[in-house]
Amino acid sequence: MSMHLEVENLYLYYKTLKGIVKAVDGVSFQLKRGEAMALIGESGCGKSSLSRAILRLLPRNTYKYEGVIKLDGENVMEYSDEKFRRDIRWVKISYVPQAAMNALNPVIKVGDQIAEPLIIHTNTSKEEALEKAAKMLDIVNIPADFINRYPFELSGGMRQRVAIAMALVTDPELVIMDEPTSALDVLTQANIMNEMKDIRKKMNLTLIYITHDISVSSELADKVAVMYAGEIVEFSDAESFFKEPSHPYSKLLLYSVPTLRVDREPIYIKGQPPSLIDPPTGCRFKDRCPYRFEKCEEKPPTVSTNGGFAKCWLLEKR
Ligand SMILES: Nc1ncnc2c1ncn2[C@@H]1O[C@H](COP(=O)(O)OP(=O)(O)O)[C@@H](O)[C@H]1O
Ligand code: SF4
Ligand SMILES: [Mg+2]
Repeated sequence: MSMHLEVENLYLYYKTLKGIVKAVDGVSFQLKRGEAMALIGESGCGKSSLSRAILRLLPRNTYKYEGVIKLDGENVMEYSDEKFRRDIRWVKISYVPQAAMNALNPVIKVGDQIAEPLIIHTNTSKEEALEKAAKMLDIVNIPADFINRYPFELSGGMRQRVAIAMALVTDPELVIMDEPTSALDVLTQANIMNEMKDIRKKMNLTLIYITHDISVSSELADKVAVMYAGEIVEFSDAESFFKEPSHPYSKLLLYSVPTLRVDREPIYIKGQPPSLIDPPTGCRFKDRCPYRFEKCEEKPPTVSTNGGFAKCWLLEKR
């Protein structure tokens, strides 16, 4: 099957008073249609920036934005802003922003709110859009009579479902969800994750699911991308990844999750992620890596692994 989304050497740098922030620093990965990718990594590693780069939602202080983003083989980076807005954003690629459930408009009813993206981004009448909104409520497991309620009358889980419905109402092909459940209790998280499993099958969605919680993603993901300091340090099919990740950072992330199944103490990753203004030369993980050796002063190669690729000198074929 040909690729649905191909990201090649994508960069997004920001200009600040302290220097240039290299938030997305040469990122590449590919997804087939219908695949779900978990994008994981500690806070501040560039996950939200990568989603903004794919959606071309750029802040004013953007310093460098370049690379290739292909949808079904077509490089949409070449589109004008006008064409990208008309044909791509919210139409083909949709988004549930971080903390979306707190960004709903308090004075607009749930149904009108879900209908809004359809009315704004496609040529749909208000009547039709409201009909579609009612269908979306059903899909995201919200009772039909909630259509006339206001966001403040809803629980956090319900508001998050509304935000998801808003992203799905335009029938997008690709949806990026930025930490969609991290503010919710564990049970609600699990419920929404389960619902997403059904929804993505039903709608044949390609999904990028951003989370700092690796355990949440294991159920949903076909692919896993691990981000560290602006780079994807490992990209793998989920099965190989959860069996045995290749990159030292991925291993530490995985072993830092407490588990009931295996009798071992969780390991904590020492230290802090580096600044993205002046990231370490060579391997960016070297100051925290238990396997560091002389070679790590140089930029690690991208090496093929069982599940995909990883960037680490230890994996270099001798
Ligand atoms: N508009 C901006 N201007 C300057 N720095 C930014 C901006 N947005 C994010 N950053 C910085 O970019 C880095 C990556 O942030 P972000 O993409 O939000 O990471 P994550 O989503 O993984 O937590 C962080 O150091 C953050 O402070
Ligand atoms: S390149 Fe070196 S420092 Fe970096 S992850 Fe691999 S072993 Fe650790
Ligand atoms: Mg973020």
